[in-house]
Amino acid sequence: MIIPVSLGEMSYDIVLLRGALNNLNKYLNLNRRVLIVTDSGVPTEYAQTVLAQCKEGYTVSIEQGEASKSFDNYRALLSVLVKKGFTRTDCVVAVGGGVCGDLAGFVAAGFMRGIDFYNIPTTFLSQVDSSIGGKVAIDFMGVKNIVGAFYQPKCVVIDSNVLRTLDKRQLSSGIAESIKMAATFDKDLFELLENTDDFEGDADKIIESSLKIKRDVVEKDPKEKGLRRVLNFGHTIGHAIESSSLGSLLHGECVGLGMIPMSSPEVAKRIVRVLEKYNLPVSVEADSSDLISYILHDKKMDGDEINVVLCEEIGSFEIKKIKAQSMKEYIDGGIIK
Ligand SMILES: NC(=O)c1ccc[n+]([C@@H]2O[C@H](COP(=O)([O-])OP(=O)(O)OC[C@H]3O[C@@H](n4cnc5c(N)ncnc54)[C@H](O)[C@@H]3O)[C@@H](O)[C@H]2O)c1
Repeated sequence: MIIPVSLGEMSYDIVLLRGALNNLNKYLNLNRRVLIVTDSGVPTEYAQTVLAQCKEGYTVSIEQGEASKSFDNYRALLSVLVKKGFTRTDCVVAVGGGVCGDLAGFVAAGFMRGIDFYNIPTTFLSQVDSSIGGKVAIDFMGVKNIVGAFYQPKCVVIDSNVLRTLDKRQLSSGIAESIKMAATFDKDLFELLENTDDFEGDADKIIESSLKIKRDVVEKDPKEKGLRRVLNFGHTIGHAIESSSLGSLLHGECVGLGMIPMSSPEVAKRIVRVLEKYNLPVSVEADSSDLISYILHDKKMDGDEINVVLCEEIGSFEIKKIKAQSMKEYIDGGIIK
């Protein structure tokens, strides 16, 4: 299936097809110099499969983990492009999760003011979320995604067969992002996530529906000036938990927790049930005053207020500006152990 993303001159297609990894030349132009960026946790066969289809390919495998979204790796990848004589008509391909995609996309955005970037996401999170929307970035001075750009890929290829090797906890962390999109936009998708007893069989349907939600939001608000904020449902408290947990919880786990207090009691009950179904945490050991101090440093703060996304009913949302301090009541309302 092809899901088109319409962004004028920056439009591109998302190919969602099992087995697509073995037939890339149908969708991508690999008949040129290609830099493949993967990481040490991604099974090597995926990057090798891509390499075998390139005319002149070079693979760089970075260390797995968030710390790899660094200036050092940015510089190292750019130096490969220069040393191997890449020109404006060559390209970069990410084969990995959001870490590879964000870093490789930023490298493609910067080299010669922008060369073609293809994304082949291999985690559930990157397949439903980070591979589309054009946000590419590295971390700097301890701040996540602080240096980056909006740079659209030329094409995204999603082959859900690669999820078979993904760790169950990573899979669930990505599912939390689908739950987020379903809760705010798509009652049917939420029900599918609640009721399916064959996740692998339904994975493409879940990925497709999630991508279409994100695609529709991004098309209306490509640079996150308004509507795109809705994708932050669960993220304000989630980011605070993520920062305070110092990496012991995965991003999706924190987002899942962050959704609970921002929902009506009815919705919260259903969210808790579906999070539990995918072995995602529904409570956390934390101090709500500590979490507030992280929220006060959130880059989305506007004076002493912050825009939050609330969900009163599954499939709908409301964006509301509230005093950051009043988030304490929301947090105390349910997720602290
Ligand atoms: N650009 C955006 O819009 C956006 C949105 C959300 C998150 N992000 C970014 O995404 C990153 C997180 O991405 P992620 O959750 O994909 O994590 P990740 O890229 O760190 O991947 C998670 C782990 O899974 C391994 N892995 C990847 N694919 C695999 C496979 N098929 N089989 C086995 N192991 C595999 C990786 O080696 C890694 O150890 C963060 O840096 C975050 O800031 C970006």
